[in-house]
Amino acid sequence: MFYEPARRNHGLPHNPLKAIVAPRPIGWISTLSEDGVANLAPYSFFNLVSEGPDIVMFSSDGQKHSVTNIMATGAFVCNLATRSLMEAVNLSSKPIPADESEFELTGLTAAPSRLVKPPRVAASPCALECVWIETIDLRDRHGENTGRLITFGEVVGVHIDDDYIENGLVRTEKLQSLARGGYFDYSWVDNVRSLPRPT
Ligand SMILES: Cc1cc2nc3c(=O)[nH]c(=O)nc-3n(C[C@H](O)[C@H](O)[C@H](O)COP(=O)(O)O)c2cc1C
Repeated sequence: MFYEPARRNHGLPHNPLKAIVAPRPIGWISTLSEDGVANLAPYSFFNLVSEGPDIVMFSSDGQKHSVTNIMATGAFVCNLATRSLMEAVNLSSKPIPADESEFELTGLTAAPSRLVKPPRVAASPCALECVWIETIDLRDRHGENTGRLITFGEVVGVHIDDDYIENGLVRTEKLQSLARGGYFDYSWVDNVRSLPRPT
């Protein structure tokens, strides 16, 4: 089959694109509101986009609480979503008022960060403390703003649970990093093969 997204002529019950661009890593973003309320939400339009400087990005469909908080406070934390935390990750996506915390909703414990104010998820084995760089309104091919807000942050601190480091390497398959697919699908990494690059 072939379809053109602008024509929405795929003929399928749901848009298949996110099942094709899958698995996508999940940025489980914790922030603090101006009033000090700890917010937590998963974003699968998320990735590491630069190394040295280490820069991550996530894309928000409109100005959700995470973006508002980051713009107000200048910082966020990307917690690693893992298989064992899948239910909590999913629950933290529930739309709740800005003055309520997803930490309370999920029962997750917040641990202090070292270099930024937003807390991290204590149960998550890895966390990236980030300082806000900028948020841009993504434009389409006609130059029109889309209202999809892409936030970039520089990683200034990295937490890794030592249990997941073996012979100096972080074992992704042991972490069972969680990813998003299409529809309501999740998957996780439990199988890794190493192949050195050709020289
Ligand atoms: C696994 C998962 C991934 C998600 N990815 C995104 C995303 O990339 N962009 C987005 O705008 N919403 C995404 N959502 C929905 C947000 O998590 C949801 O709207 C949430 O309430 C936003 O919270 P906030 O307002 O506290 O920032 C995702 C939801 C789930 C369950």
